[in-house]
Amino acid sequence: MSSPILKTENLTKKFHAKKSNEVIAIQEVNLEIQKGECVLLTGASGSGKSTLLAILSCLAKPTSGKYFCLNEPVSRWSEKFLTRFRRQHIGIVFQHFNLVKGLSVARNVSLPLLPQNLSFEEIKQAVHQATKQVNISHRIDFQVDKLSGGELQRTAVARALVNNPTLIFADEPTAHLDSKNSTRILSLFQELKKAGKTLIITTHDPRVEQHPLADRKLTLQDGKLIKNTIL
Ligand SMILES: Nc1ncnc2c1ncn2[C@@H]1O[C@H](COP(=O)(O)OP(=O)(O)OP(=O)(O)O)[C@@H](O)[C@H]1O
Ligand SMILES: [Mg+2]
Repeated sequence: MSSPILKTENLTKKFHAKKSNEVIAIQEVNLEIQKGECVLLTGASGSGKSTLLAILSCLAKPTSGKYFCLNEPVSRWSEKFLTRFRRQHIGIVFQHFNLVKGLSVARNVSLPLLPQNLSFEEIKQAVHQATKQVNISHRIDFQVDKLSGGELQRTAVARALVNNPTLIFADEPTAHLDSKNSTRILSLFQELKKAGKTLIITTHDPRVEQHPLADRKLTLQDGKLIKNTIL
């Protein structure tokens, strides 16, 4: 088998470390993910899915252990390098969307591109393509405050795709979608996978697990990886 695109060694994340309210959110997790795989992260609420996803998507750093992303030892890097790396290679769909209130769909989707020195036309084109892919282009000038839950989610997916990332991380991406839009997003993820992208998705949604897109399921319990299931 070729070398993994993502690899962790004894990855641990503690919040409030060494204090009376210490939480061990992720404990000694060892995993490997190959290029082009679609891996689901499952487990009960509070089991550490979002925390693990935040580390794997280079948003947060582990307390201990190692993380190699695209063969780079990112757990050793400073925040500045990590941010630059994330902008180049990673798209993230957040559990609670993290869209900026008061800004339009187009402005929100364009945000990952702003630090990249692109022309207005290049940004416009990328925003047009990403919003069209998720069926939200008819709302492009709407303020995000005016959108439905499903429209917010699709805007969040468009923003994750706008920089054409190699790695796509999604935290419960179908949680707020009806079955039509859920099928649409999953088909889109499948197309991205066919195009060689690697996807890591946290989910409780049986529609995701049953979709041909999903290759493997990693189950977390109390921050520990307890099961690796081929789907
Ligand atoms: N910033 C934080 N400070 C302190 N504790 C945190 C923080 N973020 C997460 N935790 C704790 O870490 C544990 C794992 O949380 P996490 O959000 O990763 O779970 P989850 O599996 O994504 O849950 P859900 O299914 O509800 O989204 C929980 O006990 C949570 O309370
Ligand atoms: Mg979560």
